[in-house]
Amino acid sequence: MSDLIKDINLVGEQVDEKSVSCEVKVTENTANEGQRKLYIESYGCQMNFSDSEIVASVMQKNNFGTTSNVEEADLVFLNTCSIREKAEQTVRQRLRVFNRVKKSKPGMIIGVLGCMAERLKTQLLEEEKMVDIVAGPDSYRDLPKLVGDVDEGDKGVNVFLSRDETYADIAPVRLNSNGISAMISIMRGCDNMCSFCVVPFTRGRERSRDPHSIVKEAQELFDQGYKEVTLLGQNVDSYKWSDEENNKARLEKKELKEEDVEIVSFAQLLEMVAGVSPELRIRFSTSHPKDITDDVLYTMKKHENICNFIHLPVQSGNSRVLDIMNRTYDREWYINRIDKIREVFGNDCGISSDMIAGFCTETEEEHQDTLSLMEYVKFDYSYMFFYSERPGTLAEKKFEDDIPLDVKKRRLQEIVTLQRQHSAERNALNVGEVQKVLIDGYSKRSKEHFQGRNSHNKVVVFPKGNAKLGEYATVKIHDCTGGTLLGEIID
Ligand code: SAH
Ligand code: SF4
Ligand code: F3S
Repeated sequence: MSDLIKDINLVGEQVDEKSVSCEVKVTENTANEGQRKLYIESYGCQMNFSDSEIVASVMQKNNFGTTSNVEEADLVFLNTCSIREKAEQTVRQRLRVFNRVKKSKPGMIIGVLGCMAERLKTQLLEEEKMVDIVAGPDSYRDLPKLVGDVDEGDKGVNVFLSRDETYADIAPVRLNSNGISAMISIMRGCDNMCSFCVVPFTRGRERSRDPHSIVKEAQELFDQGYKEVTLLGQNVDSYKWSDEENNKARLEKKELKEEDVEIVSFAQLLEMVAGVSPELRIRFSTSHPKDITDDVLYTMKKHENICNFIHLPVQSGNSRVLDIMNRTYDREWYINRIDKIREVFGNDCGISSDMIAGFCTETEEEHQDTLSLMEYVKFDYSYMFFYSERPGTLAEKKFEDDIPLDVKKRRLQEIVTLQRQHSAERNALNVGEVQKVLIDGYSKRSKEHFQGRNSHNKVVVFPKGNAKLGEYATVKIHDCTGGTLLGEIID
């Protein structure tokens, strides 16, 4: 991973140190002589990081190169997250820092992009006087025009949510990548209405991207030497695509029968991407328990290059709480999905989860159900949060946020403690195994050691030997620490 990428620990309420959902990534220097300089900082989920790559691409075509140094930037974009209150507070703090920089550089343009821009809209311009641009997640093609508006002395605002924007034709500038592993957005938005969640409001309706453009992007990445792609969406299992215009025309001309209309499901998309090359690993995130099908599991099983790992957030182990969270599955349904995964893969599939402690009206017994569900599943790891009420969500309108903060924190701590135990147990099971690891960087502790990920998405650290970055290594695991497997190359 590039050392220009700063991982700033913004944990707060979020306890798991492996979290991907609260990170800052600072772009690398690509600006040439004569170009204006863009600095982007991204918060939130992988989709947001992936969006920043689209933004960099749009701006590059308009003569902006990226810089990793905010002080030399002409244009500063903050790609923001609204998922919990803490995430928004972090963004406000960063805006204060940027405003200080702007004081000594008055021509600098500051733009807020992403979910917080969408949630707060022009309110953000009123609250943060030095913000020049507010752009929601579906308006990134418009950014050059918005910058133009600011150059003319206006503010630039576009928070229009689209029903069909997927940025399918935009080749992302790979900001967050090590040249080995890249993200591909396969869909945008979310049609689920989980009552705690702000995403449907900030990202709009769910839409799937043309599978052929996805396969093309994966192929291009592979041709450039990439070895792993992660297919991204808020709910990848509900991916569904049909070429509506083409189908309509062919139906009208009677060249096609209604029953033969081509609809590509997520399982079929996986199959298509897996076909790019057996040397290209495929990951995907996030799966929703209500939508993950047996077909997806069988497709994973069929292709060695689709990693055996599923991020399957449960949120709570209690059916009443799941019901008021509007997750549309209950404890039994979730357990059935886990049983099916274990039936298909045995122990050979990593499973991780997200958990929310102290949702509205959650009782002690209901909290215990979350712990007992964790005991049943033994997740490899989890992202764990306490409930943070978000304005405008169904939960905010319907329920009182009635669990006191100290109780939320204590419940969260119990969840975290149990998860640590389970992660250690699950890691211990791997000791003695031989695993295929994609080497993606140097170990944080020593330049003499590489690190990589196994199929289950666990980090494996081992002495370098003659191996090279970006290669697959066969590693025998001989030990483990809390979050990491330790081993050595055996061929
Ligand atoms: N689409 C994914 C989740 C995206 S948000 C899914 O459905 O699983 C990532 C995680 O943030 C969620 O899984 C949830 O655990 C957490 N989260 C979302 N809203 C939250 C809130 N209001 N308070 C606390 N945690 C929240
Ligand atoms: Fe939010 Fe639920 Fe959509 Fe996930 S599935 S993004 S939690 S509304
Ligand atoms: Fe945050 Fe928006 Fe992602 S709210 S988690 S950046 S979709």
